[in-house]
Amino acid sequence: MKLRSMLFVPADSEKKLQKSVASSADALILDLEDSVAESRRPLARRMAAEHLAATCGQRSWKGFVRINPLSTADALPDLAQVVGEGLDGIVLPKADGAADVLRLSHYLDVLEVRAGLSPQSIKVVVVATETAAGMLNLHSYASKPPRLVGITWGAEDLAAALGSISNREEDGELSAAYVQARSGALYAAAAAEAQAVDTLYGDFRDAAGLERDCLLSRRRGFLGRIAIHPDQVDVINRCYTPSEEDIGVARAIVAAFAEAPGTGVVGLNGKMYDRPHLVQAMKTLAQAGLS
Ligand code: COA
Ligand code: MG
Repeated sequence: MKLRSMLFVPADSEKKLQKSVASSADALILDLEDSVAESRRPLARRMAAEHLAATCGQRSWKGFVRINPLSTADALPDLAQVVGEGLDGIVLPKADGAADVLRLSHYLDVLEVRAGLSPQSIKVVVVATETAAGMLNLHSYASKPPRLVGITWGAEDLAAALGSISNREEDGELSAAYVQARSGALYAAAAAEAQAVDTLYGDFRDAAGLERDCLLSRRRGFLGRIAIHPDQVDVINRCYTPSEEDIGVARAIVAAFAEAPGTGVVGLNGKMYDRPHLVQAMKTLAQAGLS
């Protein structure tokens, strides 16, 4: 499942739900958590379920729902209402580690039976860095919990958890604790064999800033990004798709190794390439949908 762009849509907004039907995002995340007022949660659950069923089979995106954290009384009603036709995945916020993903997976085992869905068909993307326990337990994702296809991170809830007045230094750079969260998401995703999905870029009118930040993010290893506004989706899709230049370099590396069977290292345009470069070149081609 490709998670290059994941657009958040507050599930209680009829206008935004309609607007996002034609989105070119790889996935929509219908939100039941932070963007929905508590009093509107029952309504949002119904609207999310109806929207997923109504668009099923006629849309290009995967349909995810962000439920409320498992530590709240809302999580089970959220799941009970949205597991059904058209649901492709759950986004689990404020997870304390892989044990939470496993617990969610057990709930989904039962709900899939009730809804007549194939076992294990509903996937999970976890927000792995929003609690202090989640940060300390990032190593737990090496256990490769079931259903997990993506790991993303967030710095806002973590700042509240840590009591930070801001998650940034005076010069605007991310503080060390939050750089650790970003890097931790990369380690956890690689160990879990899941996709690393970068966090949102809040200034949704700044397309140039988003583009710069996405290109840095891709260099770091993220394969996609959260969007919060429809205008961000095309920039994200473009930045996380390997460029013609990237594909050319990757093809040349793969070809150089193919031409020299039994060799562990090749020289190309005055540079040395060995096994890790071959692995990365093959990942780039896979990301571009080439083999
Ligand atoms: N999904 C679908 N449609 C959206 C959207 C979204 N995430 N964000 C904005 N739109 C729509 C608006 O309704 C508006 O529609 P219209 O042209 O029919 O009037 C259009 O896109 C332009 O929106 P704009 O006026 O630029 O933004 P806004 O002030 O209406 O909304 C936000 C700004 C931040 C409130 C909105 O983008 C949003 O709700 N984002 C998602 C928030 C969220 O889910 N947060 C939780 C995860 S962190
Ligand atoms: Mg939050």
